[in-house]
Amino acid sequence: MSKQSNAIFRDGVTLRCIACNYTTSAEPWLFLCPKCGNLMEVVMPSKNNFSWDVARKRRFGVWRYRELLPLSNDVEPITMGEGGTPLISVNRIANRGVFVKFEGANPTGSFKDRGMTVGITIAKSLGVEGVIVASTGNTAASAAAYAARAGLQCVVVLPRGGVARGKLAQALLHGAKIVEVDGVFDEALEEVFTEVVLNGKRDLYPLNSYNPWRLEGQKTLAFEIVDELEEPPDYVFVPVGNAGNISAIWKGFKELYNYGLINRLPRMIGVQAEGAAPLVRTWALKSRSLMAIEKPVTIASAIRIGKPVNWLKALKAVEESRGTFVSVSDEEIVKSMKDLAMYEGIGVEPASAASLAGYRKALELGIVDRDSVTVLVATGHALKDPDTISKYFSRGE
Ligand code: F0G
Repeated sequence: MSKQSNAIFRDGVTLRCIACNYTTSAEPWLFLCPKCGNLMEVVMPSKNNFSWDVARKRRFGVWRYRELLPLSNDVEPITMGEGGTPLISVNRIANRGVFVKFEGANPTGSFKDRGMTVGITIAKSLGVEGVIVASTGNTAASAAAYAARAGLQCVVVLPRGGVARGKLAQALLHGAKIVEVDGVFDEALEEVFTEVVLNGKRDLYPLNSYNPWRLEGQKTLAFEIVDELEEPPDYVFVPVGNAGNISAIWKGFKELYNYGLINRLPRMIGVQAEGAAPLVRTWALKSRSLMAIEKPVTIASAIRIGKPVNWLKALKAVEESRGTFVSVSDEEIVKSMKDLAMYEGIGVEPASAASLAGYRKALELGIVDRDSVTVLVATGHALKDPDTISKYFSRGE
């Protein structure tokens, strides 16, 4: 890669394979390990001059933690003030100490904006024509909006009939080129992966979560939780689809710990829908290969994924944090969505309600206790999926 692209990254940042530890220099187009074919992760320099006091003078959001991000200070971010989302206590439906991190408050209504501000900033500095993503909807909406802001084209590859209406509308609104694939998300991802990663096409920069640079933006969710609570929680519940987010959030906590900015770590609990629970299966069987699901089924279309590309990263995150994976039924998801909406005023899409449903399941199973400090990540806004609301919620009379 040219000198120019390396100048995007902070000195000392490298890429390392998550399986064989092969390490190489920071490189925007390297997604798979040249030695063993597994995914790469970004490794931050061992020393860092980040200070909470300095950071807290900046706007609350992704770029507050600039020194903890791999982009060099000279790079001008493509930003809309993403992150800085509220941490809301939910005392009517849970004990004190339980909080919802409401990612629906991001510019396009989901946590994806945290990764997209970083990913699109890199794409812009590479001088590519545009970006491409496969998506169950939120990644598409976010990529479309940030690409528009950067003056880049955006191609979104979607499972036909598998994307909630609000998300599709956002992709249209921001002028993305929409390609529909017959099949589920996994087929859409496979298509983009083969074209861009395996065949080496370089006119469109891929921003799915096998791109480790995008995940760097998403790790700021951990920074914000610690920033607000002033210490790490005991547990973090995350809905899991392609499994990038849980991996990124764990990476964020680990980096704070390694830099001596926190002195303990939370346990990560991954939540999947029963009909789309490849990681719950893989975890339960202690398998070191993914127990994929060919035809994932759930009303939570955002996490209707049978072959999560980040499965190994997520397994490692949950294992290292001494957490676990739990599954929840569609009925439990809808019940949690209703309770968040009607008792706490928090409107989330179905996949996001999986965090609360998973927390309730974990309480039942004795995995967590009621008095632990717990954060439930509510990944996307209710307006993303109006059809599910119409289907399950009757008019109050
Ligand atoms: N919640 C919502 C609302 C999502 O949109 C997604 C993923 C997840 C949870 C799971 O996150 O994939 O990092 O494990 N949506 C992707 C998309 C797949 O295309 O928008 P993950």
